[in-house]
Amino acid sequence: MKNEILILPGDGIGPEVINEAVKVIKLLQKNKLINSVIRYAKIGGSAIETLGLPLPNETLNAAKSARAIILGAVGGNKWDKIKEFNKRPEYGLLKLRKSLNFFANLRNTIFYSQILSSPIKSEILSNVNIMIVRELSQGIYFGKPRGIYYNEYGLRYGYNTSCYDEKAIRRIGIIAFELAKKRKKKLCSVDKANVIEVTMLWREIITELSNEYPDVKLSHLYIDNAALQLILTPKQFDVIVTGNMFGDILSDEAANLTGSIGMLPSASINSKGQCLFEPCHGSAPDIANKGIANPIATILSVSMMLHYSLQKPLLSKYLNLAINNVLNKGIRTADINSTGKNLVSTKIMGDVIIEEFKKIIKI
Ligand code: IPM
Ligand code: MG
Repeated sequence: MKNEILILPGDGIGPEVINEAVKVIKLLQKNKLINSVIRYAKIGGSAIETLGLPLPNETLNAAKSARAIILGAVGGNKWDKIKEFNKRPEYGLLKLRKSLNFFANLRNTIFYSQILSSPIKSEILSNVNIMIVRELSQGIYFGKPRGIYYNEYGLRYGYNTSCYDEKAIRRIGIIAFELAKKRKKKLCSVDKANVIEVTMLWREIITELSNEYPDVKLSHLYIDNAALQLILTPKQFDVIVTGNMFGDILSDEAANLTGSIGMLPSASINSKGQCLFEPCHGSAPDIANKGIANPIATILSVSMMLHYSLQKPLLSKYLNLAINNVLNKGIRTADINSTGKNLVSTKIMGDVIIEEFKKIIKI
C-alpha cells in the first residue's frame, strides 16, 4: 500500500465539494502534519466522457494501491438514459466498492443543534447520534441474475436478485456489534424477515452472533417500521446494522434529520485497512456548477480519513470543532440556511472552515 490519498472528484457537485476538501488536505501537507501524497483520477460520468468507462483501469489500479480514497459523487441526468448497468456512472462506484471489497459502510448522523433547517421539531432531534452500518459488498446491488428483457408476451420484464451469504452477514454484524460495544451498547438490526427469505437469514445470523456480545442489547425492526421510527423517535437508535439497499435508503432519511444530507460523511472499510471516504449526498445535478453546494459532508469525510486512515484523531477532532465553530457563527450554505444567518457559497464555506481550523491548531 502506498502512502497515497486518491482523489476522485466525479460528477455534478462532486468536483466543487472535493475542491474544498483538498484545500484542507493541502494545508495539512504544507504544514507537515500529514505526509501522504495526493493523486487524482477519474470515475463515473467524467470518466465515461474522457476514457470511455465509468471505472477505467488506471483509476482501479491507483485505488488498489492507495491508503485512502476520497470520492465526490457520481452520476447525472446526462447519463440517465444509459440502460446497460455496467456502462452507467454509478457502476464505477459500485465496481470500486466491490473490487476493493469495501464491505462496511459507516454513516454517522449527528444532530447539530445550530442548524434549524430540519422540518422535524428540534426537541425530537436534540442529541441524536446514529451510526448506520450498511453492508456494501453484496445484497440486491450485486446479486445475479439481473437485467431487463422482453418476455414471451413481448412485455419488458425487469428482475434483480437479493442475496447474502452467511459469512458476509456475520462479517458486517461483527463490525456493528464492536461499534455498539464502544458506544451505547445498543444495536438495532433492520430487515424484512416477515416477507423476504434473505433477510430471514440476516436476522438468524445477527441473532446467533449476539450470543458473543452479551453486553450489547440487540433489537430487530422491519424496514418499514424502522423508517417510521427514525422520524418518530430517532433518539431510540444508537447503532443500526442493515443490508445494502435498506442502508442506502435509511441513511438518506437519517441524514435529513440533521436538516440536510449535505452534512453526512461516510467511511467504507475493507479488511486490508484501506478506506474509501465519501459524502452521502450524491451528485445533485440540479445545483451543480452554481457554487452553492455544501462542502461540509466532504470535509467531514476528510476528518474521518484523519481519524480512521491516517491515525490523526486529534486533527480530526479539531477539524470537527472548526466546523462546529463556523456553524456557531451562523455561516450557512443554502441547504442548511435559516432566517438571520449568513448565506455563503461552497468556496467561502471551505475558506472559513480552513481559517477556523488554522486558528485552532495554531498554524
Ligand atoms: C450512496 C449512493 C450510491 C448508492 C449510488 C450513487 C450508487 O446513493 O452512496 O448512498 O446507492 O450506494
Ligand atoms: Mg444513497
